[in-house]
Amino acid sequence: MGFLLSLSLAAAADSLVAFRVEGGTAIAEPLTGKRGDPVEGARIAAGRTQGNCLACHALPMPEEKLQGDVGPDLKGVASRLGEGELRLRVVNPKLVNPETAMPAYYRVDGLYRVRKDLVGKPILTAEQVEDVVAYLATLKE
Ligand code: HEC
Repeated sequence: MGFLLSLSLAAAADSLVAFRVEGGTAIAEPLTGKRGDPVEGARIAAGRTQGNCLACHALPMPEEKLQGDVGPDLKGVASRLGEGELRLRVVNPKLVNPETAMPAYYRVDGLYRVRKDLVGKPILTAEQVEDVVAYLATLKE
């Protein structure tokens, strides 16, 4: 028990932030309490290591030659989805569609509060999720 207790204390200091899913369709509040940086978000979305959104989506970035079509073209996505809906899709699209091929970038369990020692590190930090959401929110038609 002593070992388990110290393990969970260590993990608690390093846990994912808690958040609320409104009506199963949106996370209204920024994970970090403030909106992210859209320029940094575009960089993360186009980056091939962490975001890698271009593996599956097209983005309005003509300089990026390799764009995917597994998922919908994200040009104009902010005209279809609100900021809270965009945030939920980046955090965990499986809460919208359990069958989706899209990865959960900030994965959590049914309580929406999971320690990293149980699920592994999220693909994006809370700050990076907010940067990506801020970028997506600029994609209006
Ligand atoms: C492995 C493929 C894959 C990757 C990588 C991926 N997505 Fe997706 N995404 C999808 C698919 C497929 C859908 C269609 C909806 C579904 O499956 O439920 C989708 C849907 C979406 C939607 C909703 C679009 C709409 O019009 O309803 C958004 C927003 C989105 N993705 C953003 C992102 C962002 C941002 C990234 C990178 C951080 C990303 N996706 C990475 C496959 C992917």
